[in-house]
Amino acid sequence: MDIIHSAAALRERLRREPNNVFVPTMGNLHEGHIELIRLAKPRAACTVVSIFVNRLQFGPREDFDRYPRTLPVDAAHLEAVGVDVVFVPDEREIYPEPQTFVVEPSDLQHILEGAHRPGHFRGVATVVLKLFNLVQPHSAIFGKKDYQQYLVLRDMVKQFALPIEIIAGDTVRAADGLALSSRNGFLTAEERAEAPRLYRLLRNAHEQIINGAHDYQRIELEAMAELAHHGWHPDYVAVRRQSDLQPLHDGEREIVVVAAARLGSTRLIDNVEVLRS
Ligand code: PAF
Repeated sequence: MDIIHSAAALRERLRREPNNVFVPTMGNLHEGHIELIRLAKPRAACTVVSIFVNRLQFGPREDFDRYPRTLPVDAAHLEAVGVDVVFVPDEREIYPEPQTFVVEPSDLQHILEGAHRPGHFRGVATVVLKLFNLVQPHSAIFGKKDYQQYLVLRDMVKQFALPIEIIAGDTVRAADGLALSSRNGFLTAEERAEAPRLYRLLRNAHEQIINGAHDYQRIELEAMAELAHHGWHPDYVAVRRQSDLQPLHDGEREIVVVAAARLGSTRLIDNVEVLRS
């Protein structure tokens, strides 16, 4: 496995390996990332993973500085799972000068996560386009836990006609249902015990919709009230259309329930897909 820090060395290495699949990450890897890599590996001769904590996608009051940087442990995991190339640029390598050209996603960037994290998806799309230009993969894998991110990036690839297939990996969960996330490490023991409630409420919403409930606003408000009752600060629980996260119309079958809430100082997001018959 080659660990590469400069864009020039990456290009040189990948010149020999044009058949590559790409998994962009911000490091602090967990089993969720490893699953994405397992999904990637059979698709190409060369699996490329990037580790870059992208300042551009963090708001001024967000956790950029405390985001865990754990390269030695990450590298050992990546080696064990058979990754070929790890790209670990420093900030000057990706942003040698202020990034004045940016990718402006569609209005999807302003709802749900975007409403609570202004500029977040612009930062994500900009760095991912840049990484795509450097790696030039034929496929790239993103986790469905960040559902809205996956949709924004899928739109970006379509609108810019990039020759890259975007593949979504399922959310990996702890035994108690909590979606794996680098941010789970910030939870205190007490918060960690409380955290699976988010997924339980999403499962409950899933059951209600499968059983024919159509009063989505009630489902959303009840779930938010339940979170608040247990000490959470919910940003949203929303029952939406899978394709673009817009409110549902009658007869819609492909549904997703998305949620974001803060527990102590940690903001967690999760979702469940619902396929109504
Ligand atoms: O999902 C992430 O880890 C990040 O948003 C990504 C896609 C690596 C871009 O920085």
